Amino acid sequence: MASSSSMTLGVSTLLVLLLLGTANAQLSTNFYSSSCPKLLPTVKSVVQSAISKEARMGASLLRLFFHDCFVNGCDGSILLDDTSSFTGEKTANSNRNSARGFDVIDDIKSAVEKVCPGVVSCADILAITARDSVTILGGPTWNVKLGRRDSKTASLTAANTGIPAPTSSLSQLISRFSALGLSSKDLVALSGAHTIGQARCTNFRARIYNGTNIDSAFAKTRQSSCPATSGSGDNNLAPLDLQTSTAFDNNYFKNLLQNKGLLHSDQKLLNGGSTDFTVRGYSTNPSSFSSDFSAAMIRMGDITPLTGSNGEIRKNCRTSNVPPSEAQHQPLLFCAFDQMMLHNGTVFFPSL
Ligand code: HEM
Ligand SMILES: *[C@@H]1O[C@H](CO)[C@@H](O)[C@H](O)[C@H]1NC(C)=O
Ligand SMILES: *[C@@H]1O[C@H](CO)[C@@H](O)[C@H](O)[C@H]1NC(C)=O
Repeated sequence: MASSSSMTLGVSTLLVLLLLGTANAQLSTNFYSSSCPKLLPTVKSVVQSAISKEARMGASLLRLFFHDCFVNGCDGSILLDDTSSFTGEKTANSNRNSARGFDVIDDIKSAVEKVCPGVVSCADILAITARDSVTILGGPTWNVKLGRRDSKTASLTAANTGIPAPTSSLSQLISRFSALGLSSKDLVALSGAHTIGQARCTNFRARIYNGTNIDSAFAKTRQSSCPATSGSGDNNLAPLDLQTSTAFDNNYFKNLLQNKGLLHSDQKLLNGGSTDFTVRGYSTNPSSFSSDFSAAMIRMGDITPLTGSNGEIRKNCRTSNVPPSEAQHQPLLFCAFDQMMLHNGTVFFPSL
C-alpha cells in the first residue's frame, strides 16, 4: 500500500534523525568557534568588570553553575523567573535570599546577544562564567565544553531535593554526588570552591553553638556576629574561608585540618571518614587540588545537558522563548506536526 510504505519511510527517516541527534549530543570546546568567535572574550570582560566592582561576585557566579547543574542538569533552569505555569528554582531553600549574580548573567547575555544574536545558550554562559570567575580570582583555568541548550521550564521541587543541604552527612553528600556521576574525590575537590565567598548565619548557627568538631576560638569568633537565637541575624555573613575569601587557593583544606570549616558539611569532609585522605592531600598539594578541581568542574558541566534539538536558545535568560500559555499546548502541537510530516504534507490525523 502506498500510504503504509510512505509511512514506513517517514518513520525510518525519523529514526535516523533521532540517532543523528544522539550522536551529536556531546559537548565540545569549539562548539561556537565559527558561530560566535568573540564569545569567550565577550563573557570574560563582563565577568572581569563585575568582579572588579565586588570580588565576592566571582564566588556567587561559580555557585550559580553548581546549583544549575545539580537540578535537572546544566540547562540554565536556575535562571528562569517564575511564570503562571511553574514556580522556578530561585525560591528553593538553597537559593532563597542566597543565590545572587542574576543581574550579571543578564549583562553577559546582552553583551553576547550583541555580537551573535540567538546563538549562545544561557546554560553555556553559566559554564564559561564559572570558569572565568575561578581564573580571575587566582584559581586554575580549563577549556570549557560547550553546546548545551536551555530548558523551557524549571522546578522548585527538583531544586529543593537536588541541591545538598549544609546539614548533610558525609554519606548523604557522597550519594548525591554519585547519583550525578561524580566521585567522592570530585566531592572533595568541588567543595574546595568554598575557598571563596560567604555564608549566612542561618546556615552555620547550629555548628558554631553546638558543633563537636569545631575549634572553640573559631566558634567564639563566629558567634560574635551570629546570634544563637533563630531569626535574629540570620543573614549576617561570614567568609567560608576565614583566611582569604576572595582568593581561589587551597586554604579551605588547611582550615579543615584545624577544625575551622564553617559549614557542618565542610567539616564532614575531614571527620575521620573516607574523604580525610583527599582533604589532607589538597591541603599540602595546591597543584593537585587545581588539576582535580578543573577536571571535576568539567565532569559537573557534563551532567545531562540538553543538546541537538532539545530545549532552546533563550533570548533572555530569565524567560523561555515559548510563552507560558503556548508551552502548555506544545506536546499536542508537536504530535500533530509529526503526523503531518510522516504523511508528507497530507493533512491526516489518525483517530486521536
Ligand atoms: C558539597 C555540598 C555543598 C553544600 C552543602 C554547599 C552549601 C553551601 C552553603 C550553605 C553556602 C552558603 C549560602 C548562604 O548562606 O547564603 C554555600 C556557598 C557557596 N558555595 Fe556551596 N555547597 C556545596 C558545594 C558547592 C560546590 C560544588 C560549589 C562550586 C563548585 C560551591 C560553591 C559555593 C560558593 C562559591 C559559595 C559562596 C557564594 C557567595 O558568596 O555568594 N558549593 N554553599
Ligand atoms: C543547641 O542544642 C540545644 C540542645 O539540643 C538546643 O536547645 C539549641 O537550640 C541548640 N542551639 C543552636 C543554636 O542550634
Ligand atoms: C511529497 O509528496 C509529493 C507528492 O506525492 C512529492 O512530489 C514530493 O517529492 C514528496 N516530498 C518528499 C519530501 O518526500
